[in-house]
Amino acid sequence: MDADPPTSPLDLRGRTALVTGANAGIGYWCAEQLAVRGARVVLGCRSPARAETAVSAIRSQAPDADLRVLALDLGSLDSVAEAAAAVGEGLDAVICNAGVKAADRSARTSDGHDLMVGTNFLGHFALVARLEPVLAPDARVVAVGSIAHRFAHLDPATLDAPWTGSSLRQYGRSKASLMAFAFELARRWSGSSRAAVCAHPGYAVDPLTPPRPGLAEVSGFVRALSAPSRALVQGKDGGALPIVHAATSADVISGEYWGPGGLLEFRGAPARVAASDEVRSAAVGSGLWAAAESITGVRFPT
Ligand SMILES: NC(=O)c1ccc[n+]([C@@H]2O[C@H](COP(=O)([O-])OP(=O)(O)OC[C@H]3O[C@@H](n4cnc5c(N)ncnc54)[C@H](OP(=O)(O)O)[C@@H]3O)[C@@H](O)[C@H]2O)c1
Repeated sequence: MDADPPTSPLDLRGRTALVTGANAGIGYWCAEQLAVRGARVVLGCRSPARAETAVSAIRSQAPDADLRVLALDLGSLDSVAEAAAAVGEGLDAVICNAGVKAADRSARTSDGHDLMVGTNFLGHFALVARLEPVLAPDARVVAVGSIAHRFAHLDPATLDAPWTGSSLRQYGRSKASLMAFAFELARRWSGSSRAAVCAHPGYAVDPLTPPRPGLAEVSGFVRALSAPSRALVQGKDGGALPIVHAATSADVISGEYWGPGGLLEFRGAPARVAASDEVRSAAVGSGLWAAAESITGVRFPT
């Protein structure tokens, strides 16, 4: 039997969202928040065991949640291709959340690309490109960015080159690349009813996050020690809010960037925030797009 028609903007019954990296942290909270509102959630995860732990945790909050696990390792272009081929259903939203930080500049994806650029950007680029045929006419793609995009300089010619400088700067490059891709996608989708949006979670930490069975375990002692930091930062549940807002709210327009509206964008209710000129640059966006197609061998149908 079909689901009853939605009765409020918060009601997401009948909508399907894929969340990458949904087994932990902010991705988990995106999945839980969407599922609690009635959405069908596809959890794109590389570990079946960790994915099942997340499914159980969501069901502890929403016993009737409509959930599906999709095997997805964003550090493997073969895995991305297999996952996209296995989706087999329409998607109303894709939340490109999974992300890694690496201190070691020799860390590589299984395809030999820099681990951070390869996972955080190239894997999502290939995923969205391959998913395009199953995206709904009004689908939204949400790129999870970071305040760290501001520390980055983007040069499409060196996207896949070994990095110099700090790991934070390289992490910023990976997130800035994902954001520039989303803004470019928004330009390419202008005139359609699809939307590509960026969102960031602010500064979101485990000790301020409500406990869930099997997820990041934090002792009561550490929680107590961390409590005063709530004035400045937030839990990962709070970090998910601007991302879920970007994926679902009627007031969001393609090409926007959402994040926490509080001090330094570290915490607070979802608000429109400013992205750097570089990630919004059409020249950078189209250059990165071409570089990503060349590196991954995946061409975007758009
Ligand atoms: N926390 C913050 O304050 C903050 C600030 C700005 C931006 N962000 C961004 O928000 C996103 C989530 O951050 P978080 O703090 O929630 O991180 P997290 O707790 O470390 O969770 C990262 C998630 O990404 C998944 N992942 C990593 N590599 C993957 C791969 N190759 N294939 C599939 N999934 C993979 C992880 O799965 P495994 O369990 O298998 O490793 C995990 O589910 C990231 O993109 C991050 O850059 C976070």
